[in-house]
Amino acid sequence: MAILGRRIRLRAIERSDIPTFVRWLNDPEVIKNLLLYLPISQAQEEQWFEDYLQDTNRHIFGIETLEGKLIGNVALERVNWKDRCAELGIVIGEKDHWNKGYGTEAVRTLLGFAFREMNLHRVSLRVFDDNVRAIRCYEKCGFQQEGCLREAEFSNGRYRDELVMGILRSEFLENGGR
Ligand SMILES: CC(C)(COP(=O)(O)OP(=O)(O)OC[C@H]1O[C@@H](n2cnc3c(N)ncnc32)[C@H](O)[C@@H]1OP(=O)(O)O)[C@@H](O)C(=O)NCCC(=O)NCCS
Repeated sequence: MAILGRRIRLRAIERSDIPTFVRWLNDPEVIKNLLLYLPISQAQEEQWFEDYLQDTNRHIFGIETLEGKLIGNVALERVNWKDRCAELGIVIGEKDHWNKGYGTEAVRTLLGFAFREMNLHRVSLRVFDDNVRAIRCYEKCGFQQEGCLREAEFSNGRYRDELVMGILRSEFLENGGR
């Protein structure tokens, strides 16, 4: 089973995907705007995958083109069933697929699943203030900026602000649910 978009599908991640994740997560350009900052080994990623299998509050999906190429991951983390909210994270690890609308489509597809199938009420995320590509992608999907965590992250010799963005189920559905 997969969650279908127009040009992509979201599928379960597999142990056999781990070498691809290790390649992405050791690429400085890919991780520049993620929380990761140390080189990652295959063994660490294998342990991360085992921990993920035990974690029921986290749903991670591989983003696959319809031709079957794995280009990234998108996730709903910290799923909270009382407040019906979750946090979204995304990485397109194949850089030649950046700026082609795949990120936007993956986020929209996941939001559709979150609101229509999981019956969530709110999805939020955090993004560094200088990650203009990601901010634009989230705005296109209907996320609004809700706050700013000032100087929350230190990298490359300076502090960066982290923006908090969110979208409610009603806003997503009012916007045509896509
Ligand atoms: C962020 C990410 C998910 C976006 O996915 P994507 O497929 O590259 O983005 P999309 O093509 O869907 O949308 C990007 C938008 O940003 C715009 N954009 C890109 N670079 C830009 C820049 N320097 N200034 C302004 N806008 C920019 C694009 O033009 C596009 O907007 P448009 O459709 O209105 O023209 C992806 O690039 C990625 O995974 N990057 C590395 C990891 C990361 O940053 N993850 C997010 C952490 S919060």
